[in-house]
Amino acid sequence: MSMSQGYPLPASEAEVARLRMQSDLFRGDAESMLDRIGVRPGWRCLDLCCGVGGITDLLSRRVGLDGEVIGLDMDAWKLEVARDWARANSLDNVRYIEGDAFDSGLPPASFDLVHTRFALGVIPGGVGMLDHILSLVRPGGVVFLEEADIGTLICVPGYRAWDRAVDAMTRVFDQVGADLELGRKLFALLRRGGLRELRVRPCVHALRAGQPMMLHIPTTLEVMRGSVLSMGLMTESELDHVLAELRRHLSEPETLTISYAMIQVTGRVPGP
Ligand SMILES: C[S@@+](CC[C@H](N)C(=O)[O-])C[C@H]1O[C@@H](n2cnc3c(N)ncnc32)[C@H](O)[C@@H]1O
Repeated sequence: MSMSQGYPLPASEAEVARLRMQSDLFRGDAESMLDRIGVRPGWRCLDLCCGVGGITDLLSRRVGLDGEVIGLDMDAWKLEVARDWARANSLDNVRYIEGDAFDSGLPPASFDLVHTRFALGVIPGGVGMLDHILSLVRPGGVVFLEEADIGTLICVPGYRAWDRAVDAMTRVFDQVGADLELGRKLFALLRRGGLRELRVRPCVHALRAGQPMMLHIPTTLEVMRGSVLSMGLMTESELDHVLAELRRHLSEPETLTISYAMIQVTGRVPGP
C-alpha cells in the first residue's frame, strides 16, 4: 500500500495548533508509559507518523546522545515545522524523514522501540500499518501504540452545537474508513500479532473553559471544513454558526467536557 489516500486532516496552522494541544494534554501520559517501558540511553527509537513532532522530544531526552530518534511522516510541510521546533529545543539526536508509514524503507528489525500516536485510527486503512511496524522492531524490542477512542467523549451540559459538530466530525472520519473506536481494539490486535508482556492504559481528561484542549472539537471541525462542505454535511453558514455557538458554550465557566480516551498499549516482540 502507498501513502494514505484521503487523509482527512490537511496540513494548516490550525492543524499544527490541534496537534500541539493534543500533545500537551497527553504529554504526562506518554512520559509515564515511557518510564514503565524503561526506555534507556543508547536506544534507537522511531516515532511513525510524527506530524509536527509527536513524542520525539520525550524520546530524545531518554535515549541521550548515544541514542537516536527518527520521526517519520508523509507531510513535508509538517516535518519542516518539526525540524524548527527540534532546533529550538536542542533535540540534537532527532532526525525527521519523509516517508510512508506502510512501507518506510527503513531497515527491518533495527529499532528498540517503534511508536505511533493518533495514526492507525485516523489514517484510512491505518491498521494495515501494523505488519510494517512489527517488522521494524528488533527481537525483544517494544511496540508502543497510542490511539483515540471516542467512547468517553461527552459535554455537560449537553448542547445541540456539540452534537452537530461531533456528528459531522464522525461522518468525515467514517467516510474515509477511519476508526474512532480503535483504541479499545489495540490489545487484541497486538495479541494476535504475537506480542508479549502486553500492557494497556486508558488516559482520559476532564476539561473546562480556558484549557486549550477544551476547543479540540471545534478546532478539528475547522481543520475538516473542506470535507464537511464537500460532503454536504453543512452549508458554510451552518458550519460557521455551529462553530461560533460551540465555542461560546465551551467558554462558559460551568461547561465541562470529558476527553476522548487515548488508549496506550505496549508489547514486546518475541526474542532475546
Ligand atoms: C493525527 S496526526 C498525529 C501526529 C503525531 N503522531 C502526534 O501525536 O502529534 C497523524 C499524522 O499521520 C501522517 N500520515 C498520514 N498518512 C501517513 C502515511 N501513509 N505515512 C506517514 N505519515 C502519514 C499525517 O501527515 C499526520 O501528520
